[in-house]
Amino acid sequence: MTADPHGLAKGEKAEADRILALAVRLAREAGALQRARWGTELEIGTKSADVDLVTEVDRACEEIVVAAVQKERPGDAILAEEGGLRDVPGAPWRWVVDPLDGTTNFAHGYPCFGVSIGVELEGRAVVGVVYNPILDELYHAVRGGGAFRDDEPIQTSRETELGRSLVATGFAYDRRKSHRDNLAEIATFLERARAIRRDGSAALDLCAVACGRLDGYWEFKLAPWDVAAGGLIVEEAGGRISDRAGGPAPASGREMVASNGAIHEAMLATLTEAARGEVAGGER
Ligand code: IPD
Ligand code: CA
Ligand code: CA
Repeated sequence: MTADPHGLAKGEKAEADRILALAVRLAREAGALQRARWGTELEIGTKSADVDLVTEVDRACEEIVVAAVQKERPGDAILAEEGGLRDVPGAPWRWVVDPLDGTTNFAHGYPCFGVSIGVELEGRAVVGVVYNPILDELYHAVRGGGAFRDDEPIQTSRETELGRSLVATGFAYDRRKSHRDNLAEIATFLERARAIRRDGSAALDLCAVACGRLDGYWEFKLAPWDVAAGGLIVEEAGGRISDRAGGPAPASGREMVASNGAIHEAMLATLTEAARGEVAGGER
């Protein structure tokens, strides 16, 4: 197969477009359920820690996506947050699904959450869809084809100075056991950036970087479903994603630094200096 300017072979691009159409439909369907249940009485349970929440809406949204993918694309593998891996040996395509990103916000009625669907081809993210049902904003990207919000092209910001940048971060659910994670980093960013936000949805944070509402974002100990769609959307919007050392951003979500590109080195330097200071201070 010949590669086209999109970096995908022709047949792969056509397949990616079909997958995009399905992912968009399912993100809107799951998002409609979130919008309908937002602010209503919920059954709230916990998972890895007492601050790691799950609701029946997380599970119902996952069922919407998984059932449709299994029916319409039975040859695709699926990795979804609540149900884990539904493997199909030898499958080239794998869906990586966070049915409800921002569960803590959702459980508290705080309007910042959404659906994240990334699709990988042979391990590389090639389709990304993130839907914010409260703002009714849908972000999408196909590798090599640019990034869009509601079908309008989006780009990362042009800010070149960390000191004038609005950045965001987040905290892992194991913070009661591992509570120093990200504290030195946030303290250092607090001195250097214009301001910091903690919005509570990694997928929406990444989309905010993609469309220039944020200049940068970093977080550690994320999961594949947090970053599969949003990471691609940032790259396709002209931004950069990496690990904290500037290497490729791991698909595991273990480390994610995302930016408009122009402030990336300053963000990496800030993270490095913060970690050094913490080690020097004997806090780890
Ligand atoms: C969480 C959110 C949050 C981030 C956490 C994630 P969930 O996902 O994306 O912003 O800080 O690390 O686990 O649990 O709401 O799907
Ligand atoms: Ca998540
Ligand atoms: Ca989730």
